[in-house]
Amino acid sequence: EMLEKGGFEHFMLKEIYEQPRSVRDCMRGRIYPIEGMVRLGGIKDYAEKLKNAERIVIIACGTSWHAGLVGEYLIEEFARVSVEVEYASEFRYRNPIISEKDIVIAISQSGETADTIAAIELAKERGATIFGICNVVGSSIPRLTHAGVYTHAGPEIGVASTKAFTGQVTVLTLMALYIAQLKGTINNAKLVNLLTELDEIPALIERCFKEDKKIALIAEKFKDSPNCLFLGRGSGFPVALEGALKLKEISYIHAEGYPAAEMKHGPIALIDADMPVVFIATKNSSYEKVISNIQEVKARKGKVIAIVTEGDKIVKDMVDYVIEIPESNEAFLPLLATIPLQLLSYHIAVLRGCNVDQPRNLAKSVTVE
Ligand code: G6P
Repeated sequence: EMLEKGGFEHFMLKEIYEQPRSVRDCMRGRIYPIEGMVRLGGIKDYAEKLKNAERIVIIACGTSWHAGLVGEYLIEEFARVSVEVEYASEFRYRNPIISEKDIVIAISQSGETADTIAAIELAKERGATIFGICNVVGSSIPRLTHAGVYTHAGPEIGVASTKAFTGQVTVLTLMALYIAQLKGTINNAKLVNLLTELDEIPALIERCFKEDKKIALIAEKFKDSPNCLFLGRGSGFPVALEGALKLKEISYIHAEGYPAAEMKHGPIALIDADMPVVFIATKNSSYEKVISNIQEVKARKGKVIAIVTEGDKIVKDMVDYVIEIPESNEAFLPLLATIPLQLLSYHIAVLRGCNVDQPRNLAKSVTVE
């Protein structure tokens, strides 16, 4: 088994460390930075449909749903199509408005999640065009959908999803740019720039691991906290949700992810000197706003751990701990900011003596509703 874990103590850690490679594999043959072109062979026959789509509905469960939320930001930003993200379990039971004009994207690591399958069947009956974003090749969902794009993350053994999530976000990034290319909502020069930066992401993920030792020390400080808040804005919000889910899944610490600005509508009541708050506080369009949210937490003596852009001094002086990630285009932030949060959850869970690869009550693939 040690051999299967490639020398790592747990599958989860191995899978976290595989991400530079899995994200690279996901982009291979699909991005052409010099030409400024994205190729997605799996969905190319539906190019016309994608070009004319007035709405895209994303359906998924769990971590895959968080990837869907990142997809919403990216597709709306680049392709200027309206996107709705739904929990498959809610979608299937509420007589959704869906027609042959709609494109539905179903996201699932396993390709076997019962609620996602049922939601696909419903959307299909109503005539929608359905794409899958799956990891397990030949699983049920890729067979049920009209077309799709595999994440190519390789087998994921840890129950808590890590490399499959970044694979899903990578595919959604490619899809957003592909639709933008079809529709002409971004010009070729911009596409060249974006793809050149995207091509660098695997190397930048690798750089995030430099902080691993520091993250393990931070985990020591917070391993006994009963609660934890994760806050972010823009696409940092789904990253916060995913950070909170990871922590609760494997360490059994109660954690919540929130859009940072929503904190004042409830979670702020929880903040005292014992409350750890993890902020996504990188240098991007919401940087200043996040800083004022950090001040609100510090004024109430909360303990702040901030994910910051390498070299940031302003946030460092305000908070208790910083974890640095390399600078990149804001659009690709989720692919980087997720990495330290995976490591933080991992170290906390290990310190608490939890079974990180097989947390209690959870299953890798949920084939019952
Ligand atoms: C389970 C797993 C999660 C996963 C979710 C959706 O709850 O434990 O890690 O995100 O199912 O699974 P899927 O295979 O559809 O992505």
